[in-house]
Amino acid sequence: MKSYQKLLLENKAWAKEHVEMDKDFFMRLAKLQSPEFLWIGCSDSRVPANEITNTAPGEIFVHRNIANLVVHTDLNLLSVLQYAVQVLKVKHIIVCGHYGCGGVRAAMTQNDLGLINKWLRNIKDTYRIHQEELNAIADEEKRADRLTELSVAEQVMNLAKTSIIQHAWKEENRPMLHGWVYRLTDGILHNLIEMEPNTPLDPIYQYIIQAK
Ligand code: CO
Repeated sequence: MKSYQKLLLENKAWAKEHVEMDKDFFMRLAKLQSPEFLWIGCSDSRVPANEITNTAPGEIFVHRNIANLVVHTDLNLLSVLQYAVQVLKVKHIIVCGHYGCGGVRAAMTQNDLGLINKWLRNIKDTYRIHQEELNAIADEEKRADRLTELSVAEQVMNLAKTSIIQHAWKEENRPMLHGWVYRLTDGILHNLIEMEPNTPLDPIYQYIIQAK
């Protein structure tokens, strides 16, 4: 059997198992999704949002890209964010990075990697902002781990800088923003940073939100 055929076969077994446990499982989900969480994670195959949080289909709205970045010109991310915040009305947004991230490691090199240079440039900017702290870490792996954490915090800040979040904060006092990091070697998620709705921002990033 070809590897991709196994996926289709496993899918049938998986669906059957769910229907046996709860015969309306798929019919119920097909009618409505009302996830409480938006997950912004890395595309890395080892960090699947549902599996590592033991959640079922319907519980987490997911966006994944290389190195879990929140980039203000990324129409894909912005569309996901707008839909999650304004239509699904999620209560929490989780930016989840992971130690051992290939994207973060690549950003720390001077290698010219073509198109992805432009994406990883965002991580290089975070490095530049924190270069004093990072350059003082001699061990390269530890330095990459710290950059991973700093980048997650930066992406949470990037969310707060959007008018999408600022509107929701002002009008509905949600969502709460979270920065997490996942350790590949033990499967554990760590809480790095939390931002309550209406956390004061650097005024340069704060929009004047007109009352609706
Ligand atoms: Co990664």
